[in-house]
Amino acid sequence: MADKLRLAVFLSGGGSNLQSIIDKCAEGYIPAEVALVVSSTKKAFGLTRADKAGIEGVVYRRKKFPDGKTADTWLVNLLDDHKIDIIVLAGYLKMLPPPVVKAFKGRIYNIHPALLPKFGGKGMYGLKVHRAVIEARESESGVTIHKADEIYDHGEIVAQEKVPVFPEDTPDELAARVLKVEHSLYPKVLKTVSERLLKEMGK
Ligand code: GRF
Repeated sequence: MADKLRLAVFLSGGGSNLQSIIDKCAEGYIPAEVALVVSSTKKAFGLTRADKAGIEGVVYRRKKFPDGKTADTWLVNLLDDHKIDIIVLAGYLKMLPPPVVKAFKGRIYNIHPALLPKFGGKGMYGLKVHRAVIEARESESGVTIHKADEIYDHGEIVAQEKVPVFPEDTPDELAARVLKVEHSLYPKVLKTVSERLLKEMGK
């Protein structure tokens, strides 16, 4: 009987969150393994991280398929073939296709570098988020982890952690402060989620 869950991490960029999850799985802190990495672009450094860790990395570009239905089916089958239990969105800039959201309902998590519901939604990613927080003169920002659905940065919030925003902060400085918290909060949430799901599955 398997005592580890199988995660698929979706990303579009550097993959520092992927790295923290790989490391925490390897340590045994999260009772799971990253079984697949899916990137929306071949340029993502996250794919190199996956490769170094011996994890299969694939590029998923819907435009490469003759039509949307074929693209949806290909992704659903890929996740199925890898026996994925949980989808982890970590800097993935695309929407998951509705059939995937349906198949994994309640088992898709996303991390956002601000305190949702503020500073979220389509187009709110990367330094744009931190710039908006600074421009709004917020005294606090932070990290949100939520269940993902068909709407950007929507879905039940499962964890939040705050960081201070200082008046002299640049977007880069704030991003670095937030990212540090992401690297501990996402593994913490995934540990709890994995333990709970393993229990529910009787493993
Ligand atoms: C993180 O700030 C995350 O909150 C956001 O995208 C960024 C991804 O960073 N969704 P990385 O690729 O994990 O380094």
